Amino acid sequence: MRIYFDHNATTPLERSVVEVMTTVLTENFGNPSSVHYFGQQAKGRLDDARIALGALIGAEPSEIVFTSGGTEADNFALRGVAEALEPTGRRHLIATTIEHEAVLVTLKALARRGWRVTLLPVDQTGIVKPDALSEALSDDTALVSVMHANNEIGTIQPIAELAARAHARGALFHTDAVQTVAKVPVDVRSLGVDLLSLSAHKFNGPKGAGALYIKRGTRITAILTGGKHERTRRAGTENVAAIAGMGEAAKVGAGKLTQEGRRLAALRDRLEQGILGGLPGTAVNGSLAPRVPNTTNVSFEGVEAESLLIALDLEGIAVSTGSACSSGTLEPSHVLRAMGFPAHRTQNSIRVSLGQGNTEEQVDYFLGKLPAVVQKLRSLTGVRR
Ligand SMILES: Cc1ncc(COP(=O)(O)O)c(C=O)c1O
Repeated sequence: MRIYFDHNATTPLERSVVEVMTTVLTENFGNPSSVHYFGQQAKGRLDDARIALGALIGAEPSEIVFTSGGTEADNFALRGVAEALEPTGRRHLIATTIEHEAVLVTLKALARRGWRVTLLPVDQTGIVKPDALSEALSDDTALVSVMHANNEIGTIQPIAELAARAHARGALFHTDAVQTVAKVPVDVRSLGVDLLSLSAHKFNGPKGAGALYIKRGTRITAILTGGKHERTRRAGTENVAAIAGMGEAAKVGAGKLTQEGRRLAALRDRLEQGILGGLPGTAVNGSLAPRVPNTTNVSFEGVEAESLLIALDLEGIAVSTGSACSSGTLEPSHVLRAMGFPAHRTQNSIRVSLGQGNTEEQVDYFLGKLPAVVQKLRSLTGVRR
C-alpha cells in the first residue's frame, strides 16, 4: 500500500493532461512563433491554454503570461515591478514573514540592491492583519506581495482587503496563488490584485509550467529578455506541451472545483478529528478557517517530525514536514517559527496535504497506523502520554 498525502509539494497528472501533452509532443511540435501551419498549430495550443487559465481565474487571456512555474512568476512580479517603478522613487516593498522562498529570497536580493523591505508579522492564527499592512505602507511603497494561501498550513489571507489598502496608498499588489488556484475559487477582479502567480504542477498539471496574471496596464518590466514572445513580456520559446497540459488541468480543475473542495474538506476534517481525538499531545497549527480544503499541519508533542515522516514512509504513507525545499535538511519551518511557536513545536509538526485520488479508506489506514508509530517514537525520546 502506497498513499500519497503530499499534494502541496506536487500532484499527479490528470489522465487527460497526459493525453493532451502526448498529442502536442508528437503532433504539434511546431514553434508557436512560426507563421506556417506547424507553427500556427502550436500557437493554437497556447491560445487555448491562455483562454482556459483566464477563465479559471477571471482574467482576460491577454493578461496571462506563461512562465516556467510559480518561482519564475514570483520573481517576475517582484523584480519586474521593482525595475519598472525604480525611476518613480518608490523604493519600498512589503511582504509577510510566511511567504514562500520564491518571494522571500527574491526580496533579499532586492534588499541587497537598495530596496527597503518590510515583512509583516503573523500570529499563531497564521493570518495577516490588514492594520499591520496599513501601518507598514508608506508613500514610497512600490509593491505589496502577500500569498493567497500558505503552502505549509493552508491559511487563506484576506487578499481583497489587503489589496484595497495597498492601492489606497498607490502601491501595486501581487499575490502568490500557487496553493489556491483550482483548490478554491480564485477571481482576480474580486481579489482586486494587479499580479497573481500560479503553477501547473499544484493542480494536476505538469512541472515547469506556470503563469503570471498581469492586470492590463500594470507597470512591469520583463526579466527574461530576447525575442518578442508573450508580447515581449517573457522571452523564450514557450514550453508548448507543458502549457497545453496546464490549460487542460485548468479546464478539469474548474469543472470539479466546488465538488472536489467539499470532498477534500470532509476527508481533511475526518483526518484531523481522528488524530486529535485519538492521540493526546497533538494540535493543529494555524487557524482552522479560512483554509484551503486539502491541508492540515499537526504538531505531535515529543516526536521529531523528520523521524515521523520516515516512519510513516516505511508504512507506505508520504507526508511532509513543510515546504518541499526544506525537506532533506533539519531546518525548522520558517512559517511555524514566524507564527511564534516555540522551537520544539516547529520541529514536531507535519503537513498532510490531500488531493485527487485520496479516499476515506486511505485516511482510515493512516489513522490506524499512526498511534503505534507515534507511541514508538515517543518511547524512544522518553515522552510518556
Ligand atoms: C506558495 C508557493 N509559491 C511558489 C511555489 C513555487 O512553485 P514552482 O514549484 O512551480 O516553482 C510553491 C511550490 O512549492 C508554493 O507552494
